[in-house]
Amino acid sequence: MGVIKDRFKAKADIVAAEVKEILKEHGKKKIGEVTLSQVYQGMRGITGLVTETSLLDAQEGIRFRGYTIPELQQKLPKAAGGTEPLPEGLFYLMLVGDLPTEENVHHLTSVWQRRSHVPNYVFDTIEALPVSAHPMTQFVVAIMALQIESQFSKKYAAGLSKKDYWNVVFDDSMDLISRLPRIAAYIYRRKYKNGDHIQPNGLLDWSGNFAHMMGYEGEEFKELMRLYMTIHADHEGGNVSAHATHLVGSALSDPYLSFAAGMNGLAGPLHGLANQEVIKWIFEMREELKTDLPSKEQIGEYVKKTLAEGKVVPGYGHAVLRKTDPRFTAQAEFAKKHCPDDPIVQTVWNVYEVAPPILEGTGKIKNPWPNVDAHSGSLLKHYGLIEEDFYTVLFGVSRALGVLASLCWDRA
Ligand SMILES: CC(C)(COP(=O)(O)OP(=O)(O)OC[C@H]1O[C@@H](n2cnc3c(N)ncnc32)[C@H](O)[C@@H]1OP(=O)(O)O)[C@@H](O)C(=O)NCCC(=O)NCCS
Repeated sequence: MGVIKDRFKAKADIVAAEVKEILKEHGKKKIGEVTLSQVYQGMRGITGLVTETSLLDAQEGIRFRGYTIPELQQKLPKAAGGTEPLPEGLFYLMLVGDLPTEENVHHLTSVWQRRSHVPNYVFDTIEALPVSAHPMTQFVVAIMALQIESQFSKKYAAGLSKKDYWNVVFDDSMDLISRLPRIAAYIYRRKYKNGDHIQPNGLLDWSGNFAHMMGYEGEEFKELMRLYMTIHADHEGGNVSAHATHLVGSALSDPYLSFAAGMNGLAGPLHGLANQEVIKWIFEMREELKTDLPSKEQIGEYVKKTLAEGKVVPGYGHAVLRKTDPRFTAQAEFAKKHCPDDPIVQTVWNVYEVAPPILEGTGKIKNPWPNVDAHSGSLLKHYGLIEEDFYTVLFGVSRALGVLASLCWDRA
């Protein structure tokens, strides 16, 4: 751990000095005008905060420290025999700012393995909730229970110098990321597999072990998890989960409190819950039309009906993006390689052909193209993870990487 922490601190010191200099020289420079409608529409399009870890371009999509998703798929280290990037590598990139070596990534995997112990009282807290509680509710309650472990809150209470905040926020972030897969897998097995829990496998990478603890041993599913955990990790600072984590963290609430706030935002249907909504929407359509593979004409009519009922078509639209989300494309590529004949995957692709012109035709939807959530559920269903209520928890485990790397930067 020391190595990564030292490297982070060295980078952060340089950046902090640069920022100080920039503010001294250009602090009064105006960077935009604000209109009344922007204020009334949730700060829409206002550059208001800095996010170090990633940058979202409306036309091009997300770049993590300057790298697109296809570039990351090429440049980040993989698991042995795999082709998808290890999210450990993306975390290193977001945190330190440089591409990691294989060794850096293996080091991070073993650090997270070592720190992954979840105290029993966290499981007891989860058990106190009815099994019927939504998995995101169970997830947030477990994170809040784990907050008792926060080094930041203990050291702050004992008296901590401002210049050392970053150090303990860093430790808390590492601990939390290490433990989230165990907690999420526990909730999954509790809710859907009669509490038949699976012990961690200390030889696997972070995502591979997560798949294992949920009960999915196939190598293809582990590859999907590596891709999934990588592409959902960060989307600049304006989205609800990133913004909420940042905002609550600015009160010096510790990483557990801050991340829990972000997860409460992710649980909303216009944000992370949209992945669950997409699959529900597709299954309702299949049921209504009494077919596993609705035709494009039928899909078109169903999209129009959804709009006429005053509902959103889930998985379509974005507050910033104005093109097909590259995270959608990355998942479509994965599906083309591994499961092109799956009827749910084919339905997702057919919706992609049919829905955008109809959404555009309304004249008010600014982005008629699919976002990340339009594709993820179909892949999970294909591999047997059929419980769509759980999908947002997967998103949440991944999102920890970006928002907690950002929190370390905020404090540094
Ligand atoms: C993501 C989302 C919340 C962005 O909201 P936004 O920035 O306000 O989007 P717009 O500026 O394009 O919205 C303009 C209008 O189009 C509507 N709209 C946007 N996306 C829509 C969709 N997929 N289906 C139907 N209507 C949509 C909005 O509800 C709004 O209607 P209103 O003027 O009657 O209130 C929105 O596109 C949405 O609800 N999408 C579906 C949910 C989803 O996929 N969320 C995951 C996002 S990653």
